Amino acid sequence: MSTVYSPTENKETEDNCMKTKISSFDDKIVVRTIEVSEGGQLARRSFMKNIVLGGASLLPISVALGDQNDVNSRLGSITNGDAAILRFLAAAEILETDFWQQYTEFANLEGPYKDALENIDEDMPSYVTQNTADEFSHQDFLNAFLVKMRKQPVSLERFRTLPSSPVAPVQTGRLTNLMHLNVDTSWYLRYRSSGNPDFGDSFGQVVSIVDRPAIPVQDQSLYSADQMQAIANTAAFHFAMIEQGGSSLYDALSLKCTSLLSLRIVTSIEGSEVAHFEIWHDQVGNAPPVDSGDGLTFPDLNLNPATATNLVMPKPCKFISADLPLCSIIRPTSIPLAGATAAVHFLTDTGLFHGQSDEFFDLLLSLAKQADEAVRE
Ligand SMILES: [Fe+2]
Ligand SMILES: [Fe+2]
Repeated sequence: MSTVYSPTENKETEDNCMKTKISSFDDKIVVRTIEVSEGGQLARRSFMKNIVLGGASLLPISVALGDQNDVNSRLGSITNGDAAILRFLAAAEILETDFWQQYTEFANLEGPYKDALENIDEDMPSYVTQNTADEFSHQDFLNAFLVKMRKQPVSLERFRTLPSSPVAPVQTGRLTNLMHLNVDTSWYLRYRSSGNPDFGDSFGQVVSIVDRPAIPVQDQSLYSADQMQAIANTAAFHFAMIEQGGSSLYDALSLKCTSLLSLRIVTSIEGSEVAHFEIWHDQVGNAPPVDSGDGLTFPDLNLNPATATNLVMPKPCKFISADLPLCSIIRPTSIPLAGATAAVHFLTDTGLFHGQSDEFFDLLLSLAKQADEAVRE
């Protein structure tokens, strides 16, 4: 059983009477979370302290919400627009969590894939595991906060229908697909340029990664060493691609928050996304140049001074107005390029949702539209 936000539900009705909305869950909240431990093992945990009972994760709403008067007095409330922003971000974090979890399972499995990640940096498996744990915390916090504010949380459990890699250590339904990725590597050039997409600037690919797996999809012993390194390198570029996109998304949506409480949440999680991005940006520079032998080549980026791997700090770029001094910033941050709808289209184009249903895309785009339409009051 799961709770699912329905795009057909009336937002006004929801916001005018939270009790009505919540009761649509049969007075229950269902929370499904998986915690990643150091060893990459899976374990259930509560998403709200003192709320979720073991694996059942099913509680009366009255218990989940606790003393509402206490909540209101301590935290205040948030607007419907803020709730839409946080609800979309919760959905995005659930999706992030799903694929990071898939990476963690392989990164902690002894074998050629883990070895290839460690060729990039011996800490890669640990970093992957840590990033995954952070994403769990983001999805759990955002949904729990929405509940605390008497706003509707989001669940994508009904869409957990995609197959695991045939050789994944855990065979279960997934929300995302890491086996047919078109990894956008333009961020690498963007962050080394004084140009900014918000000013119309565009950037090419530093590596052409089209319809490639970022995790093993067959017995790992069947891959050549170069093929496996290419898969690990694909993952490394994907790690940074995702986290730079998340940084831009959070920044863009932060400007639409009305309450300081929501703004604090969005900007604080944004900082975590930026931290992830910069770590992965640095790490991808260690990805060995390699020709997979089956159509994927990772060049020696240091042969071109413009793509030198040590240029990991965001190069100052155009910001606010072209006649102002260049500034080192996250970019893009405009809603058309970095907002929720843009993020959904971008991720869809990368193949991350390969195999998902029309209903999935309808829901995601509906949540995105509501977030993008939020107006700072
Ligand atoms: Fe996140
Ligand atoms: Fe992230």
